[in-house]
Amino acid sequence: MNSQHDHSLSAALYERALKILPGGVSRNTVLRDPYPVYADFAKGCRVTDVEGVVRLDFANNMASLIHGHCHPAIVAAVTEQLAKGTAFTLATEVEIRYAEYLASRNAAFERIRFVNSGTEALMAVLKASRAFTGRPKVAKVEGAYHGQYDHAEVSQTSNPSNWGSVEKPASVPVAHGTPASTLADVVIIPFNDPERAVAILNEHKGELACVLLDLMPHRVGLRPADPEFVAALRDWTHEAGALLVLDEVITFRSEFGGAQSWYDITPDLTAMGKFIGGGFPVGAIAGRREVMDVMNPLSDKMLFPHSGTFSANPITMTAGLVAMELFDEAAVARVNALAKRAIRGIEDAIRSVGIKACVTGGGSIFRVHFKEHPPANYRQAFMSPDENRQLGIMLDHLFEQGFIMINTCSATLSTAMGESEIDSLVTAMEGGFRKLAETS
Ligand SMILES: Cc1ncc(COP(=O)(O)O)c(C=O)c1O
Repeated sequence: MNSQHDHSLSAALYERALKILPGGVSRNTVLRDPYPVYADFAKGCRVTDVEGVVRLDFANNMASLIHGHCHPAIVAAVTEQLAKGTAFTLATEVEIRYAEYLASRNAAFERIRFVNSGTEALMAVLKASRAFTGRPKVAKVEGAYHGQYDHAEVSQTSNPSNWGSVEKPASVPVAHGTPASTLADVVIIPFNDPERAVAILNEHKGELACVLLDLMPHRVGLRPADPEFVAALRDWTHEAGALLVLDEVITFRSEFGGAQSWYDITPDLTAMGKFIGGGFPVGAIAGRREVMDVMNPLSDKMLFPHSGTFSANPITMTAGLVAMELFDEAAVARVNALAKRAIRGIEDAIRSVGIKACVTGGGSIFRVHFKEHPPANYRQAFMSPDENRQLGIMLDHLFEQGFIMINTCSATLSTAMGESEIDSLVTAMEGGFRKLAETS
């Protein structure tokens, strides 16, 4: 800690926080060494901390603020709703309007239900898959993050000491105490490797309720899935009587109807979250009517009773509807073009500095790797100690220069940004690459 930081308001707040919150926080994401920086307020793509320092926000609360902070139309609509009530034990019309609107963006969304987080949406799609098929197991990609439900998080953090062979990746727990029975019910497949994935799935045919897939999994390298991989999983699930479930909690922003429109497939279920809440906690489950009906309390046999105190509360529904209406086809195209500009600029910077680094991504998200070639799967994306060191130097450099990134050196853009913000990030990154070149 330098002396300026010793006396910072953030340092003092963290000291207090450490006495009441384990680790001083409720979400590890906000931790920074030696203490987290505390926010005061934000507007558009700029966040001001309690010290009065302004930074450009490329993290956007982990991809959940598609219009940046405090978009006036969202603030106005939510303020009006706040005065009318935040949650009722009665239904509200805005829930229907929002469900109708989301369904109008994707023909696969025949029925929709709202929940309060991505974790909850993933829990619901896995439970719905089991209820629909009557089967116990689920399959997922090694290293993919799908929130914190027991089954969804298996092998999210596996490492070379425990991940097993690539022909048979191990089901590795994240939380100590995860029951062995849970691990046995989660089948792990490698990303973008249709042959190996199908061979593994075949060993569990008849027991698998679904294959869960994020089309551009962040922790697996933030690279779009190959069409052949997606097609192989769709074909396999059709043939095996299992469901294909997509996690579009992050990727739905990539196209007007989600990243699934990049592929020639229709999923059975899609989980969403983050930015569809317009800045408020949210999750959603959408898909085939027949499958979604496992949650239907009006059916003869309700196979999956599903509820939640704050689900579809009118604040989230109002904010989400306004945000998504604003994120129309032109807005999607604009942020995607900004991401392309950023990726081109960063790749030029890497070339001009002559450092081993590369960029992956798609839609309005990208990630910088301190590797010569883009990783193809989780095992290749796994960072060596030296890559971790470089990552730390780059993130600190960018933060000092006034840029908030996601801590994997990833950025998620917002409509509040323009070319000048993109170009200033590229310039700052070039400075970071030069710093790295000097230290290696
Ligand atoms: C792909 C994906 N799925 C699910 C989740 C969980 O969402 P939440 O943090 O809202 O529970 C996340 C969160 O980062 C995510 O990135």
